[in-house]
Amino acid sequence: MSEQSKSQAYSSLNDRRAIAKMSTAALLNNLHVMQKKSPNAQTIAMVKANGYGHGIRSISQRLDGRVFALGVASIDEAIALRAHGIKSKIILMEGVICQQDFAIVDELALDLVIHDAEHLLWMAEYKPILNDVWIKVDIGMGRLGYFVDALPSVFERLKQMRASIRGTIRLMGHLSSADQPKKAENLQQVELFSDIVKHYRLPASLCNSAAVINMPEHHYDFVRPGFSLYGESPVKTVSAEELGLRPVMTVCSRIIAIKEYPAGHGIGYGHDYHCAKPMRIGVVSFGYGDGYPRSVRSGAPVLVDGVMCPLVGRISMDMMTVDLSGHDTVRVGSNVVLWGEGLPISILERHSGISRYELFTSVQNRVKFIWND
Ligand SMILES: Cc1ncc(COP(=O)(O)O)c(C=O)c1O
Repeated sequence: MSEQSKSQAYSSLNDRRAIAKMSTAALLNNLHVMQKKSPNAQTIAMVKANGYGHGIRSISQRLDGRVFALGVASIDEAIALRAHGIKSKIILMEGVICQQDFAIVDELALDLVIHDAEHLLWMAEYKPILNDVWIKVDIGMGRLGYFVDALPSVFERLKQMRASIRGTIRLMGHLSSADQPKKAENLQQVELFSDIVKHYRLPASLCNSAAVINMPEHHYDFVRPGFSLYGESPVKTVSAEELGLRPVMTVCSRIIAIKEYPAGHGIGYGHDYHCAKPMRIGVVSFGYGDGYPRSVRSGAPVLVDGVMCPLVGRISMDMMTVDLSGHDTVRVGSNVVLWGEGLPISILERHSGISRYELFTSVQNRVKFIWND
């Protein structure tokens, strides 16, 4: 067999196990939905954490040129994107973590969030050439950002360095509870941010996905959706479907064995489940080693050839077992959807107690990502 046909044969073999079917149409649909909700703001698409587990390069390639900027957490993510030919503005959301990073910021033309007194000292010492600088303000989140009292001295320092800043200076805030709009701290935080923006009269950004949906009057000049772009609702009270969001990732695998067991027979590790009656049990080639939560217990649904079937027994590293009783047409090789199109990840969140954000970012390397174009 030639090398090429060997690799084709191997590749089709690989397609038989765990795959994530990725949809460009869904990604662009979700971007459109979020942009329609914030028509007067430009979009910073959050692609950090490997594009929320969806593949930072593939996601960014598809968003390149369609958004104002891409938001990454680390300089390594920015390096990977530039190496992949991404031309969009890239914002380092957590800033630099040492002075040497400034050389890379300059070389790769990155935009920078500054949020700590140390950043200003490093800038004064290193005198980096900078593009856009975002001043992160801690309006109550209790994480990154200057306290409001520190802002006058931040601006004083930046004034001294103005010559080395090529781009625009902007303000950034982050709300701690945008997904729970009734919480009292939201009002305090939006009011504080509004006062700061009025005082300094700079372009500003406040909203993540939940705030884009829940706080339409506070969008400012730039919004920063992440989670919603990948097709899930960032707020528990409204479903993805109601918002018009579609899953970008559909995680699938195959049935690799089907067995008939008598009533009372134990299934899998620890015999956590015993057959309630004579049962037809399918073994699915997907487990916690692929990113399915081990905390899921019997009863969680998967889609087998489009039909909801309950999982039974404990999740193993590479496999899980499913009740196929009554589904006689299912065969070895039948398709199984773990989450995605037809089976929202919010259902898996309910059954596992693990947040959808965490589930997205848990998919392992051995799951093969296949884009539909
Ligand atoms: C500063 C900042 N802005 C925006 C986002 C995007 O949030 P979401 O994914 O909920 O839209 C994040 C995500 O954690 C963030 O840290």
